[in-house]
Amino acid sequence: MDSSKLCSDLNAKFPCEGLKFASWRGGLPAAVISNGLCDAVVTLHGGHVCEFAPKGSKPLLWLSSKSHFEEGKPIRGGIPVCWPWFGGAQQPAHGIARLSSWSVKSASREADGSNLLSLELRSTEDSLKQWPHQFKVVLEVKAGSRLEVGLRVFNTGSSPFSYTGALHTYMPVSKITDVSVSGLEGASFVNQLDKASCVQQGSVKFGFELDRLYTDTVSTCVVDDPGWGRRISISKEGSRSTVVWNPWVEKSARMPDFGDEEYWEMLCVETANAGPDKVEVAPGSSHLLKTVIAEIR
Ligand code: BG6
Repeated sequence: MDSSKLCSDLNAKFPCEGLKFASWRGGLPAAVISNGLCDAVVTLHGGHVCEFAPKGSKPLLWLSSKSHFEEGKPIRGGIPVCWPWFGGAQQPAHGIARLSSWSVKSASREADGSNLLSLELRSTEDSLKQWPHQFKVVLEVKAGSRLEVGLRVFNTGSSPFSYTGALHTYMPVSKITDVSVSGLEGASFVNQLDKASCVQQGSVKFGFELDRLYTDTVSTCVVDDPGWGRRISISKEGSRSTVVWNPWVEKSARMPDFGDEEYWEMLCVETANAGPDKVEVAPGSSHLLKTVIAEIR
């Protein structure tokens, strides 16, 4: 359906103070949120939180100036929903959810002034060819003074399935070599570049390509950015892995949807279940993977 028509139908069906559906970049239908607490954008393509900024603050999410905004291609930045698999061993890389068109279940204004948006994705004949399990996945986004994103995975089939996945959060920083990520001290990780197993000593610092899968960790991470005088916390539920990523020089140059110099201004701290941290979901059951991103004041 034409994006403008879809958005006007959605506005008629889900009238909501602070949240309007509109054709966004590349004509993608999106929920555009502007309430007293924040500004945010969530596209139906990918169930993708693209932008989030508390009122009066710099954005907490980063979006590449080179991103595609079109069906069939993932968005580079914001929070890609990587599901039902994490990584590129199977195609499409990071699963089918970030390439799928999600439908709107509800949109509301909460008593605290935030907006709550609920999107849904269900298995289809096409998805069953790529991943042979019946599912329903609900993405709940609460946009207020902080951002809460929950991905609830329901097994609607008759046999158990297991999944890996991530809320692959991209954040802007003043200068990558000046920032650090704490909360992973002592955690085991697999260096995804050479598959070496290591243990994190101190906070994570950047100065080279970094692609680490921290396993068996439920800790909150904090991005400390002295250049902008701010600290961002990334806390989580239902997640045993955290992925920290910065592509640095050569990988940036290899990625067509990523500016050659953009690695200076971003990093990813991903709330995940990946590698050995698979999630098993029994028929009729569900699992919640959730992240909360907030500026520490
Ligand atoms: C990270 C992976 O989660 O995502 C990296 O650890 C990968 O290896 C990155 O390069 C980006 O993936 P994609 O598919 O969005 O280019």
